[in-house]
Amino acid sequence: MIEKISMLRAAALDKIKQAASSGEVEELRVRLLGKKGELTEMLKDLKNMAIEERKQFGQEANELKNELTGFLEAKFSELSANDVKKSLSSGSSFDISLPGTQFKLGSLHPVTIVQKEIERIFTGMGFNIVDGPEAEEEFYNFEALNIPKHHPARDMQDTYWLENGSLLRTHTSPCQVRAMQKYGAPLKVIAPGRCFRNESTDASHENTFFQLEGMMIDKNVSIANLIYVMKLLLSEVFNRDVKIRLRPGFFPFVEPGFELDLNCMICGGKGCPTCKHSGWIELLPCGMVHPNVLRYGGIDPEEYTGFAFGLGLTRLAMMKYGISDIRVLNSGDLRAMEQFSVR
Ligand code: PHE
Repeated sequence: MIEKISMLRAAALDKIKQAASSGEVEELRVRLLGKKGELTEMLKDLKNMAIEERKQFGQEANELKNELTGFLEAKFSELSANDVKKSLSSGSSFDISLPGTQFKLGSLHPVTIVQKEIERIFTGMGFNIVDGPEAEEEFYNFEALNIPKHHPARDMQDTYWLENGSLLRTHTSPCQVRAMQKYGAPLKVIAPGRCFRNESTDASHENTFFQLEGMMIDKNVSIANLIYVMKLLLSEVFNRDVKIRLRPGFFPFVEPGFELDLNCMICGGKGCPTCKHSGWIELLPCGMVHPNVLRYGGIDPEEYTGFAFGLGLTRLAMMKYGISDIRVLNSGDLRAMEQFSVR
């Protein structure tokens, strides 16, 4: 047996020495040490041997295996280096100075960046983040928000209806009612999400956009709390004092209701297509939650009051980054999106 091993050793070393290419070395490795290789086959005889012989034979075979592996590896790297040299000198088109394959890293969408920032501000104030369905029930989108079937306020929020009677939500306000029903009072939540309207599109209107709803309900919550939170929010988002104005605004689900307008940052208030030449951008409708809405949410309006707001996330992103056309944001044009990325 021992003789067999030394014969195999001599023959193998000879062949390794003579190998002319890295491919040949690999073939040899398989032929000698592979699953059905010569050495492997030899080891199968082990089981028929007496214990002493088996020990000795096993040891020698293992040594040979290690030895051959070392030789094969050395020969392989020697020949592969040769392969490169050969292809370089043969003038073939192997250019080691060519740049490698570039993998592009993704980047966050401007709306996502703004959303995350606002989430950080509100969670810091103890608000929870909640969610709601984009395909919403008519009840939550309208009825429970004090907008009954034939109310003219429905006209302002024309939307897409689904065959099963649901609709694509026109605002994130349905999340108010869902949150009240689920968690009761007191309540501090925000609900960011995608909304839809049947709009003709222009520089500041899209059929798909993002809002962030906010709601705070507790005993003795007043307009003062609302104004404080809104001011804090905007100064954090813009990192500076922003010019705002409050106008009365009508929304059936708040009483009183306000429109908080932001001085247009694209034109500095002079007037441009983004602000419809008014110098102001409607950014933040808000108000005190209507008693009917509290009741729909299962909360007693005699005991609790609250405020709610619907921040236009898409508009805010446009203001923050100076994007003058809303359509860019849904275009999927990477050249536009990548500029704002924080990776
Ligand atoms: N949901 C309203 C809209 O989209 C905005 C709003 C939210 C107004 C909360 C008041 C309070 O037009």
